[in-house]
Amino acid sequence: MAAIIGRTSRQALLVTKSGTFSPKANFVSFKGKNGKKWVVAMVGAATVGAVGVGAALATPVLAEGVELHPPKYPWSHNGLLSALDAASVRRGYQVYKQVCAACHSMEYLCYRNLVGSIMTEEEAKKDAEEVMVEDGPDEEGNMFKRPGKLSDKFPAPYANEEAARFANGGSLPPDLSYIVPARHGGEDYVFALLTGYCEAPGGIALRDGLYYNPYFPGGAIGMAPALYNEVIEYEDGTPATASQCAKDVCIFLRWASEPEHDIRKQMGLKAVMIFSFMLAISYYLKRHKWSVLKSRKIAFKK
Ligand code: HEC
Repeated sequence: MAAIIGRTSRQALLVTKSGTFSPKANFVSFKGKNGKKWVVAMVGAATVGAVGVGAALATPVLAEGVELHPPKYPWSHNGLLSALDAASVRRGYQVYKQVCAACHSMEYLCYRNLVGSIMTEEEAKKDAEEVMVEDGPDEEGNMFKRPGKLSDKFPAPYANEEAARFANGGSLPPDLSYIVPARHGGEDYVFALLTGYCEAPGGIALRDGLYYNPYFPGGAIGMAPALYNEVIEYEDGTPATASQCAKDVCIFLRWASEPEHDIRKQMGLKAVMIFSFMLAISYYLKRHKWSVLKSRKIAFKK
């Protein structure tokens, strides 16, 4: 430590204009009007340097810091003007409905949101009717169950947080409505997480009910691998490999968190076009209005 501080201060921190630091020479040569200030400044710089080096050395390098950052995947909607892949969103909804919905809610989505963007009204109604929703009270004051309607929200798999944790060994499956923008890395992270399960490296012991996933902060996740090849059968005949399902469900989750995605990009293009046109006009007008001022001549009479 002392050696490092010594080296640092000798090399960089205290090099002055007059050359390498040598205490006596400096204290003498910078005396004069500002002599004291220079000494204080140099002592200050040395202290800051020492504290910095000390802090750097005190930060431990942890062996558990082996989490992986998700790679950047070439999503088809990555471009400034690229829309979401509608067929993929539709398949992703199927993956969510048949796999993820067993544990994850999507409480900010209603069946009516599917109409027009993922499916037709008839299809969405059929999907809604598959679930039973509690409604009421009726005229006798009792709650009753009825088939779902377009205005109903997606059903939650568990009645409350406690039930969800109890069924999942203490881990809470988060609501997936906004999971993509809620996680650093967005859909890259979710895709890497879904496809990234592997054997825990030697020396890492996992508690019962936890699985090793290097993309999950900490490495031990309470969600069992949810996707594998042929986990579902796509209605459009696409081969349902694990990575295909993961890709589709990620695009679906992006759509769910940002249904205005395509329109936003369209509006962006329009805004750029309109504003650049207006910029040109305002530049011309400015030149026009200022031309009188810019070209006038001020003459002072004696
Ligand atoms: C068997 C239940 C179960 C299924 C099925 C399931 N999950 Fe999970 N999921 C969980 C649990 C439990 C957690 C919380 C894990 C934790 O905090 O350790 C979780 C966490 C997550 C997370 C959040 C990770 C984080 O960074 O906090 C995402 C994203 C996720 N699941 C996506 C999915 C997707 C997409 C599917 C469907 C393909 C799916 N899950 C299917 C149980 C499940």
